[in-house]
Amino acid sequence: MATLRLGDEAPNFKAQSTEGTINFHEWLGDGWGILFSHPADYTPVCTTELGTVAKYKSEFDKRNVKVVALSVDGLESHKGWVNDINETQGTTVNFPIIADEDRQVSELFDMIHPNADSKLTVRSVFVIDNNKKVKLIITYPASTGRNFDELLRVIDSLQLTAYHKVATPANWKHGEDVVISPAISTEEAKGIFTKGVDEIKPYLRMTPQPNLN
Ligand code: BEZ
Repeated sequence: MATLRLGDEAPNFKAQSTEGTINFHEWLGDGWGILFSHPADYTPVCTTELGTVAKYKSEFDKRNVKVVALSVDGLESHKGWVNDINETQGTTVNFPIIADEDRQVSELFDMIHPNADSKLTVRSVFVIDNNKKVKLIITYPASTGRNFDELLRVIDSLQLTAYHKVATPANWKHGEDVVISPAISTEEAKGIFTKGVDEIKPYLRMTPQPNLN
């Protein structure tokens, strides 16, 4: 198995999930997607994570991003655990959870890191764009729950920079000024970014976020 890298096409697969069989590429359609793994069902951090993702559904929808979770537990385990997530997190799980008992998907996406745990998936996140290309890979250990606000922030940056010649600076949040791509000259930038170009250094040019009214 080759290591999956940014810019690669996300591998396709067919797998059982709590919402029926998923053919990954068909399921993604022409939108963006997130595939994220958790180590195991009926564990505390994972319970809070999946409850949080359910609560953020409208934020993912707004960004045209579908979300699917995965662990190596079976379908019956997932279904039972979903009841616990709903009860304890005050939500309704509204996205599929893949039952990857044969580790087909975990191996395709390199989600089992044997020196961390030889049997369970780590906390992987893959953000996939509307061309099925891998745009972001994040890996957390089992002991650290993910920050889903950060995930939304990153998606805002990925989607902005996919369509505009800009990059986002440290700690950037939706609505803040962005960096003009080093690939374009300041003169060219002045024609493109009509809200203004602030040349702090020849290589450091800022402009208001271009896709806002
Ligand atoms: C958890 O989700 O709480 C967890 C899962 C596996 C190892 C450690 C913590």
